[in-house]
Amino acid sequence: MRVVVTFPIPDVARQMISEHAELQCWDSEDAIPSSTLTDWVTDADAILTTLTCPIGRGVLERASRLKIISTVSVGVDHIDVDAAAERGVIIGHTPGVLTDSTADLTFALMLGVGRRVAEGDALIRSGAWSEGWKPNLLLGTDLSAATVGLIGLGPIGQAVAARLKGFGCRVIASNRTRRPLQGVELVDRDTLLSTADIVSLHTALTPETAGMLGRKELALMKDGAILINTARGALVDETALIDEIKSGRLRAGLDVYAEEPLPLDSELRELPGCVLLPHVGSATERTRRAMFELALGNLFAGLQGRDLPARLGTALATKS
Ligand code: DGY
Repeated sequence: MRVVVTFPIPDVARQMISEHAELQCWDSEDAIPSSTLTDWVTDADAILTTLTCPIGRGVLERASRLKIISTVSVGVDHIDVDAAAERGVIIGHTPGVLTDSTADLTFALMLGVGRRVAEGDALIRSGAWSEGWKPNLLLGTDLSAATVGLIGLGPIGQAVAARLKGFGCRVIASNRTRRPLQGVELVDRDTLLSTADIVSLHTALTPETAGMLGRKELALMKDGAILINTARGALVDETALIDEIKSGRLRAGLDVYAEEPLPLDSELRELPGCVLLPHVGSATERTRRAMFELALGNLFAGLQGRDLPARLGTALATKS
């Protein structure tokens, strides 16, 4: 059996895979070129990958022996899931294990934007904090007094809701399945957008959700409201968001972008009303280890014809 790995992996993982299969691993930190991937997958039984490596129909068409794609991510928007299903290729991903880390980082962004943490840090580092305590210095927004609107109430949305309840916030949510959750008021999306002081996205990127917050939807948000996105950049019309931030009407805490890494000429870099992080929602040592272990568990189960610990489309596999 042959396993293609699309990113550099630790020696221990390399050894574990080599005990089960012949391994072909992309060892460079640069992304694997799609021509190389297309070439490598022709006789591969499995692919171990991450969200930075698109696996589209063209790749899958070449992979006639492929049984499983195991991705070290909960999101699967980099994989053509329909083309995989048509070929009977199963997909394993890493839900659950990154829920708390991502919910924590969502909080870091809510507090970071609301209490202007990055602006305060920049003020001191630039030497511009010259007059000590001042009554009007960097006045922010109280999280405890905010109405927070969650779009998506899967595991990560629920974990954020639990944390918000501890802060005493009013929590409202809109959810495709209208799944009730104690202490959370379910509302429709437009009501959420026009009511919330903070809107936070916790939904998977799919053809249906791409661009779900366009210019029209962003215009519904309250003056001074904050948009938090730790899900996927393409859920939001980034150009429209930049316009809203530039006008001073909205602020944002972003961990994800339409294009990653964020292009050097992105106007977001210049806007003080936002806190920007480099897609690190799940970036803790414990969580990354757990993601890796789950992805390897999926890979080996798939190769051996066993049920996957976390197969896309099963109950555990609910995104976000
Ligand atoms: C995911 O897993 O989909 C996150 O975006 C990165 O951990």
